[in-house]
Amino acid sequence: MNEYSKGRMKKYELSQQQIQELIDLAFKARKYAYAPYSDFYVGAALLTKSGDIYTGCNIESCSFSPTICAERVAVGKAVSEGAREFIAIAIVSVPKDGSDDDSEAAPCGVCRQLLFEFGTDTLVIGAKSKEDYYVMAISELLPKGFGPIQLIKE
Ligand code: THU
Repeated sequence: MNEYSKGRMKKYELSQQQIQELIDLAFKARKYAYAPYSDFYVGAALLTKSGDIYTGCNIESCSFSPTICAERVAVGKAVSEGAREFIAIAIVSVPKDGSDDDSEAAPCGVCRQLLFEFGTDTLVIGAKSKEDYYVMAISELLPKGFGPIQLIKE
């Protein structure tokens, strides 16, 4: 059982309805994933403090390094529209053919770092389906993370 489940890290509370909606929107966003090289299709749905939801999908490039993850697309959409406080992000990454590859959706290290930038308490919902998911705070997924507090002087 993780810290969030134990009730120790509850700056943000999510209702069942919110979790279900975010997972649903992440699955919808995953349909637009452009991943011809990896065949690994990812969708994300990011809930901001004001209640807006920004979605994202992964976008790959034949040159590989320009590839961007679904989570960072969603964060970019949110930040570019003025949102900087994030309550939660749902991520789904099952293969497009729907087969169960047994992999739990998990943000990569780069995405963890970018999410950490905008708040250590943001909740990550890693979902295989609407019934099968985990909820963990980004501070749990990036322990002792390097954050803006270490660089920005008041
Ligand atoms: N990917 C994401 O979109 N999010 C992650 O957190 C993990 C990786 C994408 C990037 C690439 O298009 C594909 O999955 C395989 O790495």
